[in-house]
Amino acid sequence: MTAVTRVLVLNGPNLNRLGTREPTIYGTATLDELRAELGAAAEGVEIDLRQSNDEAELIGWLHEAVDARTPVILNPAAFTHYSYALRDAVALVTEAGIPVIEVHLSNPHAREEFRHTSVISGVATGVIAGFGFGSYRLALDHLLRRS
Ligand code: DQA
Repeated sequence: MTAVTRVLVLNGPNLNRLGTREPTIYGTATLDELRAELGAAAEGVEIDLRQSNDEAELIGWLHEAVDARTPVILNPAAFTHYSYALRDAVALVTEAGIPVIEVHLSNPHAREEFRHTSVISGVATGVIAGFGFGSYRLALDHLLRRS
C-alpha cells in the first residue's frame, strides 16, 4: 500500500464557528486548535484541514481527493442529513479505492430525530461519532496505520 503523505480533513457548514457554537455540544476549542492537534499527531504527514459552508466547494474538494488519491476525513455537518450531492461525491472517492471516514464531534444518534439519518454513511469507509476532536484523531490513527 502506498504511504499516506497528505490527509484532507474537510469540514462542512457552521464548523468555522467551533469554539463559540453551542459549546455544550461541540466544546470550546476552535478549528485552528483541531488543525494543530492533528498536525502534532501526524508526524511527516501533511494535514490539509479545510472548512466550507458551501456544498459545491466541498464537492470540488472531494473531486480533488479522487484526482490526487488523497484519503479524506469528512465532517459533513448538517449536509450529513440531506445532501445527496455530497453523498455522490463521497461515493466517487470510495469507489476509486480511497478511504473517506465520516466523523462527527457529537453523537447524532443521541440528538434530534432528523440527525439520526446520514445519507453519507452508506458510501463512507467508516463512521466515528461522539468523541469530540477524538473522532478526528481516531480517524487519523486509522489512516496512518493502514499506510
Ligand atoms: C455534526 C452533527 C450534525 O448533526 C450537525 O449538523 C453539525 C455537526 C457533529 O460534528 O457533531 O453541524 O456533524
